[in-house]
Amino acid sequence: MPDKPGRNAIEVKNVRKIFGTGEAQVAALDTVSVSIRENEFFTLLGPSGCGKTTLLRLIAGFDFPSAGEILLHGQDIASLPPFKRPVNTVFQSYALFPHMTVAENIGFGLEMLGKPKAEIKARVAEMLKLVKMEALSGRRTSQISGGQQQRVALARALAPQPKVLLLDEPLSALDYKLRKEMQIELKRLQHETGITFIFVTHDQEEALTMSDRIAVMSSGKILQVGTPWDIYDKPAERFVADFIGETNFLTAAIANIGNGKVRATLKSGATIDATVAEGFQPKDNATVVVRPEHAKLTNGKGELSGAVENIVYFGTDTHIHVRLDSGEAFTVRQQNTRSAGCGFERGDTVGISIGNDAAQVLRD
Ligand SMILES: Nc1ncnc2c1ncn2[C@@H]1O[C@H](COP(=O)(O)OP(=O)(O)OP(=O)(O)O)[C@@H](O)[C@H]1O
Ligand SMILES: [Mg+2]
Repeated sequence: MPDKPGRNAIEVKNVRKIFGTGEAQVAALDTVSVSIRENEFFTLLGPSGCGKTTLLRLIAGFDFPSAGEILLHGQDIASLPPFKRPVNTVFQSYALFPHMTVAENIGFGLEMLGKPKAEIKARVAEMLKLVKMEALSGRRTSQISGGQQQRVALARALAPQPKVLLLDEPLSALDYKLRKEMQIELKRLQHETGITFIFVTHDQEEALTMSDRIAVMSSGKILQVGTPWDIYDKPAERFVADFIGETNFLTAAIANIGNGKVRATLKSGATIDATVAEGFQPKDNATVVVRPEHAKLTNGKGELSGAVENIVYFGTDTHIHVRLDSGEAFTVRQQNTRSAGCGFERGDTVGISIGNDAAQVLRD
């Protein structure tokens, strides 16, 4: 039966994974629940050691959860060995067979499944075309570049037509330019094949530009799941706001004004309206976040005031670091123009105006 769009491909329910025993015990996954939809480009984003690979390995079946369950299209797959799951993995190291040719590597999984020779040949040709490697099909994989190896690893994983493709930091070995090219390539492949991609990265920019949705992880937990827009503009917790992009944190007194909004009184005495994070509980004080590009530096008055401490030029924009009168630090990002400088100097007394709809209150 064809799969209906919008259904869940993978459901992870209250999964725990404990490594070791006694003192040396590590909760690599601490009660993780998440649903990944069919045809979705879903990214697990988080720092080293937060549990990304562990979660992929459980989905692939290379390891077992200590508690909880993993459903594939609604079916518990706990008893299915890795090769019987309609799931394939692209490892960070690619793990290609160096003595085999590009074509042999791509056909390997199909050979193992005992597919007829003619079918394998046709499928390998199709895959070579998909990853644009036709010209190098007879070359050994020890004799091709890193980016080419990456494409072969992808083709090999896609050849058996898995329902779900797991990609564990597949681009981290590539240089910046090739990495950017492969990001676009991966998006194209996902779009063309309609396969659900679960992509692991610790690179926030990569996650924002490639994903339909992102799960932000820290210390074995998923802190927030949302579209790149949600995660960037409506971070729920300090970790998420801090890990993704640059952010200003301000302490404020909070009063509820309804409609998912609060009025925040900043230490400067100014009040601004702010949206609240998912799971926010009414309270008197909370942390307000404002992205540096959503605030404007002025020579006059603003909601905040202070003195310019440092100016950092980035080519496309300039970051102006301000010490507020409250003692808090605040950075404003200003788009550069060709003809003029940033218009401010170190030591200047400045105002900062915070745009309408620029502030978000964390659940803390
Ligand atoms: N086989 C194992 N035995 C013991 N501890 C493990 C094992 N595998 C992983 N861990 C621990 O579990 C935690 C999560 O590891 P995991 O490999 O999932 O992290 P990760 O998010 O993939 O990190 P990275 O970005 O560095 O690859 C870490 O603290 C790690 O040391
Ligand atoms: Mg890992």
